[in-house]
Amino acid sequence: MQFSMRLMHSVKLILGAVVLTASMNILADVTIPHPPKPRGDKCSIPGDDEHKTAHHFEYLLHKRDQTMHQGIRTKQYSLKECINCHGPADKTVHYGNPKHFCSSCHRYASVNIDCFQCHADQPQPAEDNQASDLNPASFPHYAETTAKESKK
Ligand code: HEC
Ligand code: HEC
Ligand code: HEC
Repeated sequence: MQFSMRLMHSVKLILGAVVLTASMNILADVTIPHPPKPRGDKCSIPGDDEHKTAHHFEYLLHKRDQTMHQGIRTKQYSLKECINCHGPADKTVHYGNPKHFCSSCHRYASVNIDCFQCHADQPQPAEDNQASDLNPASFPHYAETTAKESKK
């Protein structure tokens, strides 16, 4: 337990250093990520780019929990909205490709997420509803919640 906490802390420090180095070396290093420009001009995540980079996943995970626990299905902080504005115009670009907004940084920072196994990694037409972007057979967040609650 102690060890894994320390390990997690070191991983965070390393990631922090990666982000810091990335912003300091912006002119020197061509391998640092250059996230593609979004379609709209108002990001759902508040603050400057530094704040967005450091905290975007907290907003996403909080929204996920609100949706799963309280049935809140508003646009704000929805993953679908991120992709509709930031997602690639090119239909052949998927998560994992350095040209995909989300993987442009994640590849560089060695962040692994499984979100796009279920969620669409391409912008979805406006007439689609949230649920239609998902494989309805998988409800992992419910499973997570049940596991959390049975520990209490
Ligand atoms: C309607 C458009 C729009 C939506 C929706 C949107 N964003 Fe943004 N986002 C922007 C803009 C504009 C910027 C600033 C881009 C820049 O500095 O070039 C930005 C910046 C960011 C950055 C920093 C990128 C960088 O270059 O450092 C992150 C991370 C980010 N957004 C994540 C998200 C996430 C996660 C969501 C969904 C919860 C989201 N955005 C929803 C428009 C949007
Ligand atoms: C195995 C499938 C699966 C995976 C993996 C998954 N989700 Fe979900 N997610 C769902 C389902 C199903 C819903 C419920 C949609 C509904 O009821 O409207 C959902 C809902 C959400 C919502 C609220 C609705 C929306 O579009 O904003 C957010 C936010 C969300 N997930 C974020 C994430 C993030 C971030 C990850 C990765 C860390 C992730 N999910 C991984 C299946 C998945
Ligand atoms: C500007 C760079 C950047 C962009 C663009 C970006 N991310 Fe991230 N993301 C990061 C970094 C760096 C971390 C790790 C931060 C940490 O652990 O402190 C991260 C972590 C995450 C995590 C948490 C992973 C975990 O292990 O808990 C999720 C979920 C996530 N990002 C989702 C997204 C999604 C979805 C998008 C696209 C809409 C996106 N990110 C775009 C840099 C970015």
